[in-house]
Amino acid sequence: MSLLRVLLVLATVAASDAASRPLWDSLARLQPETEESPQAAAVQELLERLLGPRAASAFSVSINRSLAGPGGLDTYRLRSGALGVIEVAGSTGVAAASGVYRYLKDFCGCHVSWSGSQLRLPDRLPPVPTEIIVTSPNRFRFYQNVCTQSYSYVWWNWDRWEREIDWMALHGINMALAFTGQEAIWQRVYLSLGLNQSEINEYFTGPAFLAWNRMGNLHTWAGPLPLSWHLKQLYLQYRILERMRTLGMLTVLPAFSGHVPHGILRVFPRVNVTRLGSWSHFDCTYSCAYLLSPEDPMFQVIGTLFLKELIKEFGTDHVYSADTFNEMRPLSSNPAYLSKVSAAVFRSMTGADPSALWLMQGWLFQHQPDFWRPPQVQALLHGVPLGRMIVLDLFAESKPVFSWTESFYGQPFIWCMLHNFGGNHGLFGTVESINQGPFKARSFLNSTMVGVGLTPEGIEQNDIMYELMTDLGWQREPLDLQQWTAKYATQRYGTTNTQAMEAWQLLLRSVYNCSGVCVNHNHSPLVHRPSLRMVTDLWYNKSDVYEAWRLLLSSASELGASNTFCYDLVDVTRQAMQQLVSDYYLEIKQAFQNHTLSRLLMTGGVLVYDLLPELDNLLSSDGRFLLGFWLEAARNVATSDREAELYDLNARNQLTLWGPSGNILDYANKQFGGLVLDYYGVRWSLFVSTLVECLNTGTPFHQNQFNQAVFQVERGFIYNGKRYPAKATGSTLEIATKIFLKYYPSAMKHVY
Ligand SMILES: *[C@@H]1O[C@H](CO)[C@@H](O)[C@H](O)[C@H]1NC(C)=O
Ligand SMILES: *[C@@H]1O[C@H](CO)[C@@H](O)[C@H](O)[C@H]1NC(C)=O
Ligand SMILES: *[C@@H]1O[C@H](CO)[C@@H](O)[C@H](O)[C@H]1NC(C)=O
Ligand SMILES: *[C@@H]1O[C@H](CO)[C@@H](O)[C@H](O)[C@H]1NC(C)=O
Ligand SMILES: *[C@@H]1O[C@H](CO)[C@@H](O)[C@H](O)[C@H]1NC(C)=O
Ligand SMILES: *[C@@H]1O[C@H](CO)[C@@H](O)[C@H](O)[C@H]1NC(C)=O
Ligand SMILES: *[C@@H]1O[C@H](CO)[C@@H](O)[C@H](O)[C@H]1NC(C)=O
Repeated sequence: MSLLRVLLVLATVAASDAASRPLWDSLARLQPETEESPQAAAVQELLERLLGPRAASAFSVSINRSLAGPGGLDTYRLRSGALGVIEVAGSTGVAAASGVYRYLKDFCGCHVSWSGSQLRLPDRLPPVPTEIIVTSPNRFRFYQNVCTQSYSYVWWNWDRWEREIDWMALHGINMALAFTGQEAIWQRVYLSLGLNQSEINEYFTGPAFLAWNRMGNLHTWAGPLPLSWHLKQLYLQYRILERMRTLGMLTVLPAFSGHVPHGILRVFPRVNVTRLGSWSHFDCTYSCAYLLSPEDPMFQVIGTLFLKELIKEFGTDHVYSADTFNEMRPLSSNPAYLSKVSAAVFRSMTGADPSALWLMQGWLFQHQPDFWRPPQVQALLHGVPLGRMIVLDLFAESKPVFSWTESFYGQPFIWCMLHNFGGNHGLFGTVESINQGPFKARSFLNSTMVGVGLTPEGIEQNDIMYELMTDLGWQREPLDLQQWTAKYATQRYGTTNTQAMEAWQLLLRSVYNCSGVCVNHNHSPLVHRPSLRMVTDLWYNKSDVYEAWRLLLSSASELGASNTFCYDLVDVTRQAMQQLVSDYYLEIKQAFQNHTLSRLLMTGGVLVYDLLPELDNLLSSDGRFLLGFWLEAARNVATSDREAELYDLNARNQLTLWGPSGNILDYANKQFGGLVLDYYGVRWSLFVSTLVECLNTGTPFHQNQFNQAVFQVERGFIYNGKRYPAKATGSTLEIATKIFLKYYPSAMKHVY
């Protein structure tokens, strides 16, 4: 055991209160570089964006670093000042913004979420009767998964980024990835190394797949990146970094993980590279990364060159992210080799920034647990000095890694809720696990936990889970979930409505209460390629969702004007209809297996000609559920028709085939108006008509033949050349009511 490690363990053991636990020097030094008064001004401006001009006189924001708790723990203070002004002080801008949000929620009943905000303020702001001081037990409150960049942010403009960063500050996020625009820097570096443009073009993927290019999983697919892409992303990155830093957030920049384009082999023929295996369902046309040997001098040359160039361009907060073996098996399980790789990655960071700290996603450990046995995990982690790496325990709510690795063998870690895969719609949550998990992790033997995080692959779904998790970031013990949920409903709609509150209690105990190993992939037959072997079982009692649906609809007369309510009404109706699709699917299957043609025609007909079109109508009535919104956002980034076509292809392919031939088919499925009718609907229609044909001709159903035929339908959607409206049509309430009247009775029939 090294001296440092002994000291560390002693120090950790000595601390009883989590908040007073000493931190590694390297972490304590990580502080926002922005001065106090610009941070205060940034929060004040945020408030004016949020609340309008009245915020200027209603709130007085100040930043004072010495408010921070031990080791730099964020702290805010709220009190009433002269003339009813609400005084907010924070140790950082983020701390102050969190304080303001706490005030807005608890004193004014407000709510800010991805799907909308509820910001009706009383004419006179309620006073804070006694001063409130809160210190977060979490040094870091982290946000983002490498994948979020592709599944959610890929087409964003500055307006959308600005809203997101505001959301982050209000929700207490003080550390986040800042990955935009990195390809522009890589392009510069590769050109300077002697690669030519066509070698670079064939390396980068298209915009919607860059997350996996960055982790070495994928190359070439849906590319190349136009020059205008790089310029636009650079511009965005400047603004993103500037805003995040003035609010007092720590930005995490990308670093070199060891993967190189094929062109490197032409320029440096003697370079020692090994080729990793293929990734997921791709072959080497689009995967099989070239990984530089950790001992090859070019590793340091390229890694340091990139990071120096990046820092020169963007400055730095000294935290860098790199993932070498994400879902890719290393060539050797020899611990010495694994340590050499992580040491090489880290050295290429310190070569550019001596105080570099490596933030690594811990997904790999739980993804290939047969390879990553304790000696392999320890070797990779110990290639880096203790305290110079932070591991994201990426999926801690379901598959925590800290618990079987002696708390990452002494490296600090962040307990993260992953929650969402591929940005799927579908109500889902593991409330008990996230309400308990972080507290258990902090009191784990010799725990090295330094924070909590959100690491969803996609956002803009299940607001409640993110509200809960970010609230927990300031808690010292679990919350009373029922009570918290009642408050959530009230704040979200701006009024206390008993039925809405009951609806949320039902959702809390059902869809949001998955326990055990819960993977939120929407497995509903609705969004998958039909077959006779689809899984329809659920982790909850579906009658709770139907009842919540009924309750929300009956509160519509009171809440119908609320924009967050309308979103939830669409979302819960959507969930109910997704359940109904499973019922119809089972009936179709049974009718086919019983050779009951009339029954097959009936149930198949209802599904294809009524249920799915009605679902499409419902989704099309809300701008937050529109295919057109996603596609138009993609087109808006383009500077020419050719670029628009490329981006449109990227946007459609990611939602559907995910690759040229359905490689990761329907992984990132969405329930969007337009997509349900023209993609899922057409597919279901082909399935039903194929089954009818089989019964009519007395032939068996061949899945392989069907797959070939349906692939044409799926591809057909991508190239259908249709433009979809980016504006909602129809009244959500009318459509939802109509669907309810038509389907609620049959839904309930299937419950009993
Ligand atoms: C900041 O806080 C410290 C400790 O509470 C206090 O002594 C100091 O006066 C404060 N500074 C300002 C500028 O208010
Ligand atoms: C880049 O180099 C490759 C290999 O020498 C060559 O085939 C290709 O034509 C070159 N492209 C450009 C744009 O120079
Ligand atoms: C190339 O690198 C691998 C490890 O990545 C190492 O085992 C091998 O000895 C190296 N080959 C040469 C010729 O240096
Ligand atoms: C954890 O702490 C205990 C004392 O509570 C100590 O005996 C043990 O060696 C520590 N384990 C590790 C892996 O550091
Ligand atoms: C979630 O389900 C468990 C049983 O699996 C139960 O003990 C717990 O109370 C439920 N939590 C909520 C919030 O409904
Ligand atoms: C689901 O809930 C309904 C209504 O509360 C109840 O009648 C039914 O028995 C429940 N089903 C199961 C499997 O628990
Ligand atoms: C199919 O047959 C089974 C038993 O043979 C029966 O229970 C079921 O009701 C039939 N279903 C339909 C849709 O005809």
